[in-house]
Amino acid sequence: MHTAVPQPGQPLSARALAGSVWRNGDWRRRPIAQQPPWRDLAALSSVRDRLTVVPPLTAIADIRRLEASLAKVAAGQSFLLQAGDCVEPMDASAIPALRCKHELIGSMAETFSDRIDAPTVTIGRLGGQFAKPRSQPTETVAGREVTVFRGPIVNDHRPDPRLRVPDPHRLLAAYRAAKAVLSELHIIAHETATRGLPASDLTVLGEAGGEVSGLARPWDGSLRSVLEGYGETRRDEAGGWSRTGLWTSHESLILDYEEALVRRDRQTGEWFLLSTHLPWIGKRTAQPNGAHVAFHASIANPVACKIGPETNPAEVVELCRLLDPNRRAGRLTLICRMGADTVRDRMPELVRAVRNAGHHPVWVCDPMHGNTEVLPGGRKTRRTEQIMAEIEGFFETLRAAGEWPGGLHLEAAEGAITECIGTGGPDNAIALERNYQTLCDPRLNEEQSMLLADAVSRLVAKG
Ligand code: PEP
Ligand code: CO
Repeated sequence: MHTAVPQPGQPLSARALAGSVWRNGDWRRRPIAQQPPWRDLAALSSVRDRLTVVPPLTAIADIRRLEASLAKVAAGQSFLLQAGDCVEPMDASAIPALRCKHELIGSMAETFSDRIDAPTVTIGRLGGQFAKPRSQPTETVAGREVTVFRGPIVNDHRPDPRLRVPDPHRLLAAYRAAKAVLSELHIIAHETATRGLPASDLTVLGEAGGEVSGLARPWDGSLRSVLEGYGETRRDEAGGWSRTGLWTSHESLILDYEEALVRRDRQTGEWFLLSTHLPWIGKRTAQPNGAHVAFHASIANPVACKIGPETNPAEVVELCRLLDPNRRAGRLTLICRMGADTVRDRMPELVRAVRNAGHHPVWVCDPMHGNTEVLPGGRKTRRTEQIMAEIEGFFETLRAAGEWPGGLHLEAAEGAITECIGTGGPDNAIALERNYQTLCDPRLNEEQSMLLADAVSRLVAKG
């Protein structure tokens, strides 16, 4: 079927008529939380129009591959590791940091797979993790009240009132930054997959990712090895497990940005969010009657949703019903962030309710966001002991209920940052100051992450 190619500047309605722009505006009729107080609405509208005609960042075939991998996690056949910054940088530091993050998540995943002898699905909090939900509209920095930092997709982290004004042009900058990350991920995937291949086989390699059908024979073998089993550890020749590459994920928060990147699958007519592989709904926007749930209910990607200590059984069942009405394997991941002190109290009835309603999501533990501590003076930190305690409570609860504790969702970064207190990092509040870098929440450093991977892989292996 021929579909007219939409042109930039053509009115939205004309593009909608052309059949290639998403028309499901149902979410706009719902209460919406956490959107920036944009001032320049004309600029927002023109940026949105621009984003509806840019090339997508992810490929539908890849998103389907990820869903198949998540279905295996839901069935208890593999483990999931999702990790990265709380807020991803949008500047030039992002690309070198990406290589280190790939290395760190890959090493952690190999640790899990070697010990449990099963694949680990690897997903970064990257390629678009640029938006932050906030509890207050303003904050006080050095005695001055300024608009709160909502992530680099909205405003600048420097506490200058002019730089804190939400700027719609940042949505385009975010798209470009995410595109650079995706492109670098493709390059890393090629390098990983073709390591050791003779040069004569490498000369024909082009871009990885995207649809591969129809490619000429000589490209096939190498490209197939990049794409098959991408995003999960695979068994290597020596009998161990090796990393492949990372899928992307982010909190899909700023719906003007996300909606503009929805595209249609021409074969099936489904609508996919092509700003990422796995979007997630954050804790502050997970109201069952809210705009974010309506939006994610209408797209065909696998989706994740955070749940917390205030989520009750009726609510979690309603979220499952809305987000996964067809009970599709791999479609829904529930990321539980309860807090070490409440996980054993809150989780059992939620797990029971979801199972009794006939849903089988991927159950993931986020041991970071329920364990944030604000020290006198305002520094945010987390203690590795608390993080481990929540993971233990999560494993215990899921196992007691006969469910598979499917994975971990972490805020972690490369290098010797000093943001979380505990073994492998600073042991007190003063030592935190040595290398505290995060623009938002405190992350585990490299050593803490590897210690955690070791401890948790033992827990998984215990069965
Ligand atoms: C986050 O993942 O950085 C976040 C804001 O989490 P939550 O929605 O669980 O508070
Ligand atoms: Co965070």
